[in-house]
Amino acid sequence: MRKNILITGGSGFIGSNLVDFLLSKGHNIFVIDDLSTGLKENENSLATYYHYDLVNCIEDSKYIEDILINHNIDFVYHLAASADIFLSINNPEKVYKINVLASIAFVNVCIKCNIKKFLFASTSAVYGEPQYLPVDEQHPTDPMSPYGLTKLGFEQYLSYLKLHSDTSFIIYRFPNVYGYRQRPDLEGGVVAIFQDAIEKNNDIKIFGDGRQTRDWVDVVDILSALDKGLGFEKKFDIFSLGSNTKTSLTMLLDYFKDITGYSKSPIYLDERDGDIKHMVMRYDYAKKELDWEPSISLRDGIRKLVDGVK
Ligand SMILES: NC(=O)c1ccc[n+]([C@@H]2O[C@H](COP(=O)([O-])OP(=O)(O)OC[C@H]3O[C@@H](n4cnc5c(N)ncnc54)[C@H](O)[C@@H]3O)[C@@H](O)[C@H]2O)c1
Repeated sequence: MRKNILITGGSGFIGSNLVDFLLSKGHNIFVIDDLSTGLKENENSLATYYHYDLVNCIEDSKYIEDILINHNIDFVYHLAASADIFLSINNPEKVYKINVLASIAFVNVCIKCNIKKFLFASTSAVYGEPQYLPVDEQHPTDPMSPYGLTKLGFEQYLSYLKLHSDTSFIIYRFPNVYGYRQRPDLEGGVVAIFQDAIEKNNDIKIFGDGRQTRDWVDVVDILSALDKGLGFEKKFDIFSLGSNTKTSLTMLLDYFKDITGYSKSPIYLDERDGDIKHMVMRYDYAKKELDWEPSISLRDGIRKLVDGVK
């Protein structure tokens, strides 16, 4: 059934892919984005855009209220955030303002306007350095960066709200997402950064010894999980959307080398604060409850990127 959907952060990497995907399924799409890291060129002429800084709704929520009511919004995807771990270390006040205070003000307006479902994009960074691998939803949370703390803080606020509102809340803890439209000039997108350096035949810099591992999932698989969230009926739940596959940075570079013929050795730099050593997440619970599992291997995903396929 056609829905009226609001996506915050819909001009960014994951959000803009989600806009295109949901439009192709026939939904009406509305976006709030301040274009701080999102790009105008990502925007789809079939969606309606509000270029607005969500921080403003801490003081005055009328602008958001009007959007929700005028467009009769059924479902909200809240993706807008500052997703930069190192900005969160250097300027935690700014990141708390966007990721916690503005998010709280925003969800409170959504509740006031009787939004039925609210899906929040959280992160594997809420776990901190894992006590066991692969992590699952029961793994203790102990973030190593203010970014992870802000995401966990807002998750906990949603958990509190489940007893105080009729809105349903779904929390997705994303792994390292990569794919079409990821920016190589922002700090988080290692795959995009490697691809960009390789295309320009530049050196690749690795922080640490390259043996740190991550769980990379193609944005196309994340879109199918986000789509399945539309039909999820529980009042509150949290899902870890990993692939159960860990890959070191060295292995990632080897995949690129195999596919592109790039042959330079990387430059190794000191480890950075806030970087965890290892992360891999299970998806068993998402498989059981959402019938979701990732379908694209990292090697195939890189080949798609190199071939310019979405
Ligand atoms: N990409 C990943 O690997 C990954 C992993 C874990 C979690 N996440 C989460 O998924 C979400 C989307 O991530 P992404 O990679 O697409 O990042 P992104 O930076 O491309 O997208 C975030 C979007 O939010 C917008 N935005 C930021 N602050 C805003 C504000 N105050 N008001 C309005 N709009 C604002 C930005 O302009 C941008 O378009 C984020 O919440 C991020 O924390 C991403």
